[in-house]
Amino acid sequence: MTTQPMIKLADGNIMPQLSLGVWQATHDQTVAAVSDALHIGYRAIDTAAIYKNEAGVGEALQASTLPRDQLFITTKLWNTDQSDPQKALEESLQKLRLDFVDLYLIHWPVPDQDTYVDAWRGLLRLQEQGLVKSIGVSNFHPHHLQRLKAETGVFPVINQVELHPLFQQRQLQAWNATHQIQTESWSPLA
Ligand SMILES: NC(=O)c1ccc[n+]([C@@H]2O[C@H](COP(=O)([O-])OP(=O)(O)OC[C@H]3O[C@@H](n4cnc5c(N)ncnc54)[C@H](OP(=O)(O)O)[C@@H]3O)[C@@H](O)[C@H]2O)c1
Repeated sequence: MTTQPMIKLADGNIMPQLSLGVWQATHDQTVAAVSDALHIGYRAIDTAAIYKNEAGVGEALQASTLPRDQLFITTKLWNTDQSDPQKALEESLQKLRLDFVDLYLIHWPVPDQDTYVDAWRGLLRLQEQGLVKSIGVSNFHPHHLQRLKAETGVFPVINQVELHPLFQQRQLQAWNATHQIQTESWSPLA
């Protein structure tokens, strides 16, 4: 039984405060790390389609005896898939061996591509279908977030950004907080 703090998101869902991230891990490293992490009490895992290790997460999850409702699995929509989030998520779910993910993030806004608002509409539809519980973004600035709200009426519940003692992003953290957007740190050890 884990006793780590839980974070309440604006959509009412809760997530463990601490996740294991698997960026740069190979398939075999991911299977081993996720299995060990679950064994010692982690319940949240953070992967992404671009990490090419969702299948490793899926293998470790399948081997685990933990009930699904005790796990919190995040994956992310890669930039080149912003035009078809449904297809991208279905591929991720297949690799993860899951019926739904707890959190799906748009990985980067990629403003030059100008598809992130449509991608956000796609994530809203995925949430309606029950394929994702919570939806959010990563590496978004306030003006990107404001555009999502202006054009869809819905803010993300999470903005995952680079955040650590050497890069604290205090203004962004405050802006997110004002809009009930949880700030999640990537590269927390810098
Ligand atoms: N959304 C995004 O765009 C994005 C971008 C980057 C990361 N992320 C997520 O954030 C997660 C964590 O980020 P991260 O891997 O970049 O950085 P991190 O967790 O801040 O740091 C990892 C580094 O810390 C070192 N380290 C880890 N444990 C240590 C220990 N016990 N003692 C000393 N050094 C230790 C490792 O060094 P050595 O390599 O030397 O062992 C490694 O290079 C990723 O796995 C991913 O899930 C998201």
